[in-house]
Amino acid sequence: MSGKLATEYSAWQKLQHIYDSEHSKLVLKELFAQDPQRFQKFSREFVSPDDPSVTFLLDFSKNLITEPILNTLLDLIREAQVETYRDKMFAGEHINTSEDRAVLHVALRNFDDFKISEAGVDEVAKVLAHIKEFTEAVRSGAWKGYTGKTIKTIVNIGIGGSDLGPVMVTEALKPYAKRDLDAHFVSNIDGTHLAETLRLCDPETTLFIIASKTFTTQETITNATSARDWFLAAAKDKAHVAKHFVALSTNTKAVTAFGISEENMFQFWDWVGGRYSLWSAIGLSIALVIGYDNFEQLLRGAHGMDKHFKTAPLEQNLPVLLAVLGIWYNDFYGAQTHVLLPYDQYLHKFADYFQQGDMESNGKFVTKDGRRVSYQTGPIIWGAAGTNGQHSFYQLLHQGTKLVPADFLAPATTHNPIANSLHHRILLSNFFAQPEALAFGKTEEEVRKELGPNASEPLVKSKVFEGNRPSNSIMFPVLTPATLGALIALYEHKIFTQGVVWGINSFDQMGVELGKVLAKNILAQLGKPADVAGHDSSTTGLIHYYQKHRKE
Ligand code: F6P
Repeated sequence: MSGKLATEYSAWQKLQHIYDSEHSKLVLKELFAQDPQRFQKFSREFVSPDDPSVTFLLDFSKNLITEPILNTLLDLIREAQVETYRDKMFAGEHINTSEDRAVLHVALRNFDDFKISEAGVDEVAKVLAHIKEFTEAVRSGAWKGYTGKTIKTIVNIGIGGSDLGPVMVTEALKPYAKRDLDAHFVSNIDGTHLAETLRLCDPETTLFIIASKTFTTQETITNATSARDWFLAAAKDKAHVAKHFVALSTNTKAVTAFGISEENMFQFWDWVGGRYSLWSAIGLSIALVIGYDNFEQLLRGAHGMDKHFKTAPLEQNLPVLLAVLGIWYNDFYGAQTHVLLPYDQYLHKFADYFQQGDMESNGKFVTKDGRRVSYQTGPIIWGAAGTNGQHSFYQLLHQGTKLVPADFLAPATTHNPIANSLHHRILLSNFFAQPEALAFGKTEEEVRKELGPNASEPLVKSKVFEGNRPSNSIMFPVLTPATLGALIALYEHKIFTQGVVWGINSFDQMGVELGKVLAKNILAQLGKPADVAGHDSSTTGLIHYYQKHRKE
């Protein structure tokens, strides 16, 4: 972000040279054989500066790197001035240049350590107090619905960052949940999503949380309006909306116009990006499900990672290390994707969450100063919870023709030690085995030995694992709210670091606009065939087909 294209950095050019001349010699089996200290050299333990119980191990030894390569990758970080831009972010400078905004999700979990002067930052504590008071009233039963009953169900209506974070975190922290409070999340404009959810709700005991930074998002406002109609069909009186609808937004005017009073609104600010907003009022559903104290622990865990990112030397800095490894594969090895593989069922939405977190942040072809990049930016993020993925897509990871760098994550201790933790030991044996298999594979010689002299050639070949497929392993003692907070912040700062190196603005999302505008135009033309105008023949043909076949 120093105004240069990434390819203009001398470290980048050096890395290209190293890749061209050395990559065929980078063989994990040999690298491990040559250096008994490899694990010690290429692993780091994170211990939160705020709470030593918040800790995890990052083992990045199974990557196609040597010490000189890592040093050159870190030179790239220095040359791109990542530390300067990091400090600008923490200081509240408007690093989201296209929207002229600060980027201050770190201020939402600051607890007064960093000095940040930006309008709204001094109101964070007040909003947290509001969240605390409200969640305690609902969870204790003090908050009553319009017929005097306590709230049994919450429905968060939001999409993108106003949905994915709360969904992922409430799933991840289910062991801390109030089990008699049902939580649902409606995001899709497809009426099925709302209809199927409302089937599970009773208007007398349901609280709707309308989560939208802008309060103009078509999906959310349409779903919220239909939910309000459903509610009023039972409650009749609009005055009852106050007990059953709250809003999380930056847009007071639109919230009050919708019929939600300001006192039932939880404020946040334009310096909170949608995909970084679970730490803000958008986290209200999280606080309702796991309780305010646990929500605060989540924030404090993230804050510990913020401090680490801000102060740890580059060689020790975990977000920076993950970022440079990603760049190495994305930009030099030509890897198109990055897979997130949590061996923890509670983290089954982790990859979905970081699809938006990473791809909406770094899926960009233009630099901050408007130049077309000549290199790859953000990878495609995907993944699934282990061991399910092993029985679907791991075949390609092990023997496919594509390089897919992987992050494996797992807790040492499960929240559900059923059968004396036998399940967990089996799960972890897979967590340990898969990176090992990916890295070291199985040679033709080994296969021949195993199959004996009569094995056919094609069978022998089909059983060879070339190996040399890189991965990181992240292991933590147990998935607590604070540990989850630290892990999310780890990836947030990784994404930030990569965006700085690529010279892009990781904090706008112009790429979602065009489709929205076209859809608005098309919506007005869906009435009759004669209304359909201004499209290519494919789009026109599709709309005509719909008009012919619809039954409404
Ligand atoms: O998908 C675009 C986007 O603007 C996301 O960045 C955001 O998280 C989502 O829409 C929802 O926006 P809002 O919270 O304003 O409804």
